[in-house]
Amino acid sequence: MSFDDIIDRRGTHSGKWDKMEALYGVSPKDGIAMWTADSDYQTAPCVIEAVRQAADHGVFGYSWEYPEYLEAIKWWMKTRHNWEIDTDWILTSQGLGNAIALSLNVWSNPGDHVVIFSPVYHEFAHKISRTGRQVRECPLVRDGDTYLLDLDDAQSRLTGSETMLIWCSPQNPSGRVWTADESRAVADFAARNNLTLISDEIHHDLIYPGHTFVPMDVAAPEHRSNTVYLTAPSKTFNIAGQRTGNMIIPDPDMRAAMKKMQASLDYSPSSMGLRMIEAAYSPQGAAWVDEQIAYLEGNRQCFDRQVNAIPGIRSLPLQSTYLAWVDFSGTGMSHEEIAARIRDDASLAVSQGPTFGTGGELFQRFNLATQRARVQEAADRLTKAFSDLQ
Ligand SMILES: Cc1ncc(COP(=O)(O)O)c(C=O)c1O
Repeated sequence: MSFDDIIDRRGTHSGKWDKMEALYGVSPKDGIAMWTADSDYQTAPCVIEAVRQAADHGVFGYSWEYPEYLEAIKWWMKTRHNWEIDTDWILTSQGLGNAIALSLNVWSNPGDHVVIFSPVYHEFAHKISRTGRQVRECPLVRDGDTYLLDLDDAQSRLTGSETMLIWCSPQNPSGRVWTADESRAVADFAARNNLTLISDEIHHDLIYPGHTFVPMDVAAPEHRSNTVYLTAPSKTFNIAGQRTGNMIIPDPDMRAAMKKMQASLDYSPSSMGLRMIEAAYSPQGAAWVDEQIAYLEGNRQCFDRQVNAIPGIRSLPLQSTYLAWVDFSGTGMSHEEIAARIRDDASLAVSQGPTFGTGGELFQRFNLATQRARVQEAADRLTKAFSDLQ
């Protein structure tokens, strides 16, 4: 199948499509689901083939992080990200949301403050609160079409009760690809303030031409003893439902602490998740990712061209991810009015900017990992919904 082939996901127990009416008030009959970060096209043929082979075998017993699985991850990090890792460093988790929640439980205590740089993936704050910790929000600085760090400002916000920093690289929702210098500055900041650094790099594969992702460990290897690196092929290959991610932890004591926590919860990995990841992290998988990036580049150009022609609306140029971060502040409307027009007039279910924290108040996030025809339709609907601004 090509990326252009429309796949009807309604009625397939897809969270994105089958929950959008309940969560966003947008009917799946004529609505377009553009919120949660999964894609509407099929995954790579090599991943589908691995599942087919497993189904033909027909036995789905227990498994473990077997050597070929670990080697596939090592290969991927080296060939795609120029990152040398040791297979001993790899622990699996039930996805990266789970890895973040586990990390909070292992390396911070209830009541502690956890530093995040906003606007940022809303689940960071939710997980911090749900585990009984508190959010220490440090706003990023908007600089035209991009965002910058202000670590002096962040330093001035710390009170001494912070024990952890959750970092998003590349950044969701802005798509910002941090430079090696910026990443190193964040790692230095964490070390200086005795913060365990959780570097969430889930979006690291979907980088647009002209930008280079540098893993935190490549930028600042001297901070390994204090850092957990989180990666997963779930966004890259659209296999989030398999609930499998990786915690790459070079420090043996930190690794032992995480293993102890997982043992206490009786964790063991999903055998299908492991097979899918092993198949994905291969030369065939890499070639498919390159095709996907080229397709997404076309999607974002199509979306941005039309949406940026609407006075007062600005879709920021993405450096990575398929999540368009759109600034509606120039419309002069409140969040409620913007959201109502998108929901009621355009019938689009999108992620609400204010949930991403300070700086997201007048933004909306649109998932563009869908067929080009749907992206075009969404842009047409937005043009109509905001036609009075023309
Ligand atoms: C930055 C970031 N981290 C973690 C997650 C959640 O990952 P998982 O589905 O593996 O729990 C997402 C999902 O959108 C994300 O954008």
